[in-house]
Amino acid sequence: MTNQTQYIVANWKMHGSRALAQELCPLVQATAGNVQVVICPPATLIAQVAAQFQQAGAIGAQDCHAEPEGAFTGDISAPMLKEAGANYVILGHSERRQGHGETSVQVSAKAAAALSAGLIPIICIGETGQERADGLAEAVVAGQLRDSLPKTYANSKILLAYEPVWAIGSGQTPTLDNIVRMHRFIRSQLPGARTQVPLLYGGSVKASNSADILGLEDVDGVLVGGASLKAEEFKGILDSAVR
Ligand code: PGA
Repeated sequence: MTNQTQYIVANWKMHGSRALAQELCPLVQATAGNVQVVICPPATLIAQVAAQFQQAGAIGAQDCHAEPEGAFTGDISAPMLKEAGANYVILGHSERRQGHGETSVQVSAKAAAALSAGLIPIICIGETGQERADGLAEAVVAGQLRDSLPKTYANSKILLAYEPVWAIGSGQTPTLDNIVRMHRFIRSQLPGARTQVPLLYGGSVKASNSADILGLEDVDGVLVGGASLKAEEFKGILDSAVR
C-alpha cells in the first residue's frame, strides 16, 4: 500500500437500481477510517444515489465526454456529472475501449475535462489475454499509460486502475506475484509528479480474494464489477479493507 487511503470502487456497469443502492448504503456507511468507497452507478442513478449516500461514500460516473457541452447526442459532460452529484469518473474502461473504440488519446482528453470540472478521473489500463500470451503485457500497459494520462493538470488528483482485460468478469485473476510485478512496473513508468498516484487493481475481485489483493504492496484499492452488485460479496470486500 503506497497511499494512506484504500479505495473500494464499485463499477455497476449497466446494472443496478434504486433498490440496490438502498441495500448497499448501510454497508458503506459502516466502513470507516481510511477506506474510501466510490459507488459508480449508471448515469441515470447518480443524482438519486448521491442523495441516498450523502456522506457514506463518494459517487462516480462510468464515462464522460471531453467537451463541457455541445451537439453530442447521447453523451454526458463532466460538468453535468458533477452537478448531478458525482465526484469521480471511471475513464478508459476496457468495455469503452473495446465496445466504443475509445483510444488512449481520447481518454486523456476526457481526463482533462473531468479534472477541469472538479471530478477525479479513475483511468483504467490493462492488456488482453492475447497480448499477455504474446509477451506484450508491459508494452501495452506502458503505451496506454503514456497516452491516457492527461497532459495538463500534473498536480491534480487522479487514480489509476490496472485491469487486465482477461480478468474482467472471467473469474480469473493474475497471481498475486503478477499483480505486484505489474503495479511496480506501472509505477516505474509514471512521470515524476505522479509517482504516488493511488493504483487500484480490478478484474474478478470478490470477497474471497480481496484481502489478499488489498494486502499487496503497491495496491491502493480495488475496482469491483460483478461482486459490487451483491450485498454479501460487497460487504466481504469492504470488511477486508485495511482499517
Ligand atoms: P469484474 O469487473 O469485477 O466483474 O471482473 C471489474 C471491472 O470491469 O471494473
